Amino acid sequence: MARRPPFPGPVHGLALLALLGASTLLAQPAGTIQDEALVAPYTLPDPLRFQDGRPVRDAADWREGRRPEVLRLFEEQVYGRAPAGPATLRSEVVETDSKALGGRATRRQVRVLLDDRGGGFDLLLYVPNGAARPVPAFLVPNFGGNHTVHPDPAIRLSTSWVRDRTGGGNHRATEASRGIAAGSFPVERILDRGYALATFTYADFEPDHREGLRDGVRARFGPGPDALGPSDWGAIAAWAWGLSRALDFLETDRDVDARRVAVLGHSRLGKTALWAGARDERFAMVVSNDSGEGGAALARRRFGETVKAITGAFPHWFAPRFREYAGREEALPVDAHLLLALVAPRPLYVASATEDLWADPRGEFLAAKAAEPVYRLLGRDGLGVDEWPAPDHPVGGTIGYHLRRGPHALTAYDWEQVLAFADRHLRPAAAGGLAPPAASRASPARCSSTGPTRRSSRWSGVDVDLDGDQLLHRPPVGAARRAAFRP
Ligand code: GCU
Repeated sequence: MARRPPFPGPVHGLALLALLGASTLLAQPAGTIQDEALVAPYTLPDPLRFQDGRPVRDAADWREGRRPEVLRLFEEQVYGRAPAGPATLRSEVVETDSKALGGRATRRQVRVLLDDRGGGFDLLLYVPNGAARPVPAFLVPNFGGNHTVHPDPAIRLSTSWVRDRTGGGNHRATEASRGIAAGSFPVERILDRGYALATFTYADFEPDHREGLRDGVRARFGPGPDALGPSDWGAIAAWAWGLSRALDFLETDRDVDARRVAVLGHSRLGKTALWAGARDERFAMVVSNDSGEGGAALARRRFGETVKAITGAFPHWFAPRFREYAGREEALPVDAHLLLALVAPRPLYVASATEDLWADPRGEFLAAKAAEPVYRLLGRDGLGVDEWPAPDHPVGGTIGYHLRRGPHALTAYDWEQVLAFADRHLRPAAAGGLAPPAASRASPARCSSTGPTRRSSRWSGVDVDLDGDQLLHRPPVGAARRAAFRP
């Protein structure tokens, strides 16, 4: 079987093959395991045991001790440490239309500025006109520019770096790529279900290649490309940081309920969505689609892509230190189940595909399963099943999972399952769903769109100070409340 190519992107399978051509399919690295019988026994780090061996006895132990410990381990060993959000964040509405998509939606195209030197990103927002506002939203980064997610001719062509497959050469987008990712962004369907959709291209934060860090937020806000330490942020952390900046903006938008924003990503952006959702507890729900190695798949299984393969092909994605685990996954103090556990107690959805063996679909399920003890400790249920479900049989309680029949892609089927899951978790109580858990949500900080990200907010009736997604001032309240924020 051919290994899938290094840049499938979020287009659906057939379009993808047409775009890439069979000749771009790469041979698998020698020794790639794609047979369950070849998976060697392994032991996962216990989510409910501290590094020093002490047991995690209760929710407070998790929230105040083990969670920060796990987060720090992922920062130091895997993705790298990102800085706090910038002190100022301004936004300019570049274009708006309250009768977009045949009157179905309000479209806003916003330039969000991260500094005074013009650095920023272009956010495309569709808000359903037929739903009571503020609405819950999906925040979904895209690969090729906002204009790829829908054929809507009013969407501005991205001026950011794009891979040549979506552009006309020189890594710049052309009209030919308009709507090319629409198969992965069922915009009308999302709107009709009562959700807003917000999207931006990940390249606005960093172009996706080895030298990309010279042109992205890592150069602007980090230690600089030539001074990168072993635990400094890689590109995934930079893109995840971008998701938090997009959420900063959504907190200022009256039409979106920032307490009900789900972050969703496919493939490398699935890894990114998980890391964003793990660090930034303002995300009310987290969805990874076919995220694989460095995402939802257990590295210790070495099934499909391995640490060696991923850090060899994409060294820029991770903290430099991560490559020290190539061929020694068992030495990692963490694994994917702990990444998923960082999302607890918030709803988490993991989506896999049968033919996506490179991403180890079974390893993604097993990671979700192994995250359950943390959900239970925090008073939530997990998947509700013990065995890997049959293809096209979605399962789940607070952790949702499905194994779609088919290849690596983000498809309408994936979206349907995710929307059904979101309906249960993000809809207002009046609509029959569960309201977001009060103890884990901060009231949205309605900062002015030109004001600093440092701000005060009411959180369960308590005043807190936030800087971006960082809690600056911890209120003197109980452990359960405090721990809802990242350290
Ligand atoms: C490659 C890579 C994967 C990644 C995927 C993608 O296949 O090996 O880790 O998920 O590209 O992002 O498209």
